[in-house]
Amino acid sequence: MYPRVNVDLSKVNQNLDAVSRITHGGNCSMMIVTKGFCADEKIVAEIAKHPGVDFLADSRIKNIAAYADLAHQNGKETVLLRLPMGTEVDEVVKYVDLSFNSELATIRLLDEAAGKAGKKHNILLMIDLGDLREGIFFQEEDTIMETVSEILKLANINLYGIGVNLTCYGAVIPKNDNLSILVDIAKKIEAKFGVKLAMVSGGNSSSIYLLGGNDVLKSRELPEGINNLRLGECFILGNDTAYGTKIPGTCSDALILEAEIIELKSKQSLPIGETGVDAFGQKPVYEDRGVRKRAIVAVGQQDITLDSMTPVDERLVILGGSSDHTIVDVTEAGDQYKVGDTISFELGYGGMLKAFTSAYVDRAYRK
Ligand SMILES: Cc1ncc(COP(=O)(O)O)c(C=O)c1O
Repeated sequence: MYPRVNVDLSKVNQNLDAVSRITHGGNCSMMIVTKGFCADEKIVAEIAKHPGVDFLADSRIKNIAAYADLAHQNGKETVLLRLPMGTEVDEVVKYVDLSFNSELATIRLLDEAAGKAGKKHNILLMIDLGDLREGIFFQEEDTIMETVSEILKLANINLYGIGVNLTCYGAVIPKNDNLSILVDIAKKIEAKFGVKLAMVSGGNSSSIYLLGGNDVLKSRELPEGINNLRLGECFILGNDTAYGTKIPGTCSDALILEAEIIELKSKQSLPIGETGVDAFGQKPVYEDRGVRKRAIVAVGQQDITLDSMTPVDERLVILGGSSDHTIVDVTEAGDQYKVGDTISFELGYGGMLKAFTSAYVDRAYRK
């Protein structure tokens, strides 16, 4: 059935091998993030088996609940990346080995829930180094220390470490200078409270370039003291998300979206009549390129993001689309395509997220 995502599990493994070599080679543990592909069961099975993976992480408790047993059977720990909702603390304590937190009120609820469950729950305290999403702001050192002091009083909570998230809301790029601030905060916490933090987590796919040996950096600039990275996009799509280069040893086509041509006709480039707004309220701009051969494929913005997919056939150009249709200029491919054929696309992060979330997109797997 089309549309579908073709998942090449051997390429997924090749990418896991590549990021594992880089991450462990830089003395960091590796957390693989499963949310971008909705914790797809078969991809998760490969991740759980892979010897380089230390933690499986997701932002949604529902995804973690589905694979917690498998992860544990394979000796991996589970991590909740998004700050828990107060209403989900029982599930968090049940399925998650380590949750990311920044609010004492929620940490206290986790403490209660862990007490009820007869467990000790690990938390990682998030520090905001300027990206302005979650975390206690790094300049508010008193608040950080007071929060740690309160956490350490809780009987059923273990302060496992601290971490930062960058290049999400504020698009801030991780560098030696900003990540060194995180390492300094960790050292101050350890010195002030006489504790040892097991983890100082230095970010996501935008941090891996700092380990060097890539198109951006020859040698390591990740500060010593960072001992964990959390990798989603860079392992599944092969992207360094700081500078847009490719992670050495990875491939970008482990996931391919394939959609079927339902109409193939030559038409002029410019719509006829007064134009208003398109199906999504946007005012499109059209370029007059004369008569073009256009394929309509049966996939649309309910399933994908048009600017987050690229035809594998470099002669093809996406012209636009609506909720159920994508229009592709196939003129340069001559007579190669006919109705009933399929067109393949590499996916970007947004395209992947939507394709895996859509109930209308099938999946096929190759070992
Ligand atoms: C806290 C946190 N860490 C890590 C990640 C993984 O990000 P990326 O896919 O860029 O590696 C995400 C998002 O998925 C996240 O929210």
